[in-house]
Amino acid sequence: MALTHPDVPHHVAIVMDGNGRWATRRFLPRIAGHKQGVDSLNRCVRACLERNIGVLTVFAFSSENWNRPPEEVSGLMELLALSLSREVPRLNAQGVRIHFVGDRQRLSERVQAGLLQAELSTAGNHRLIFNVCFNYGGRWDIAQAAQKLASRGEAITELSLDRAMALAHVPDPDLLIRTGGELRISNFLLWQVAYSELHFSSKLWPDFDDAALDEAIAFFNTRERRFGQTSAQVNAPDKKPNARIA
Ligand code: FPP
Repeated sequence: MALTHPDVPHHVAIVMDGNGRWATRRFLPRIAGHKQGVDSLNRCVRACLERNIGVLTVFAFSSENWNRPPEEVSGLMELLALSLSREVPRLNAQGVRIHFVGDRQRLSERVQAGLLQAELSTAGNHRLIFNVCFNYGGRWDIAQAAQKLASRGEAITELSLDRAMALAHVPDPDLLIRTGGELRISNFLLWQVAYSELHFSSKLWPDFDDAALDEAIAFFNTRERRFGQTSAQVNAPDKKPNARIA
């Protein structure tokens, strides 16, 4: 997909952290924070469309989130099912193509069917690719890619692994944002963030608004992306760096 605005990152990835604290500070159950998180995500999708961002990838449920209290896990599963029925028609109308990224086997058959239906019904859209990582972990992704190659008897190389990863349908993220003040990756996109710019926001995810997104984009625009080259090389008029394995 061609970049129409070279000053915006093409692919933005987000660790949406801070829903629990947002709720706890208001003496609400944690799931109220996740519900507010869905509203924030809707706003963020709209903001990405308005800014001509090509790909948005979000971390909605990690491989490790199964270890949370059972009521929070079941609340998140219900929220996913509810969001599928409520949000997919809106995403479709906005020209958003949705992909669910992660291990679906542990999800209920009803949810699995809903994910597939959402993907099929938005498959013809091109304005924004929206990857929702659910039951996803960066280590899981590397392992499943290696297993796929091994089962086919293919050699494991950087290129073959890259093509077998769950996010092979999009280029690597240009900008990774984490909200909630923590300064870590937490098993998100381990393979793909090799050359992403990292922006950490102290805002809790439900409070992450258009201004906060613009702040992250402004930060991105201050960075010189060298991909292992020197500054002189990347600023030479005829040479552009290329981080993506061709
Ligand atoms: C991390 O905040 C957030 C999550 C584990 C869930 C993120 C989910 C959403 C934003 C809603 C979208 C989800 C679906 C189902 C479509 P946290 O709970 O770890 O916050 P804390 O660090 O303040 O406790």
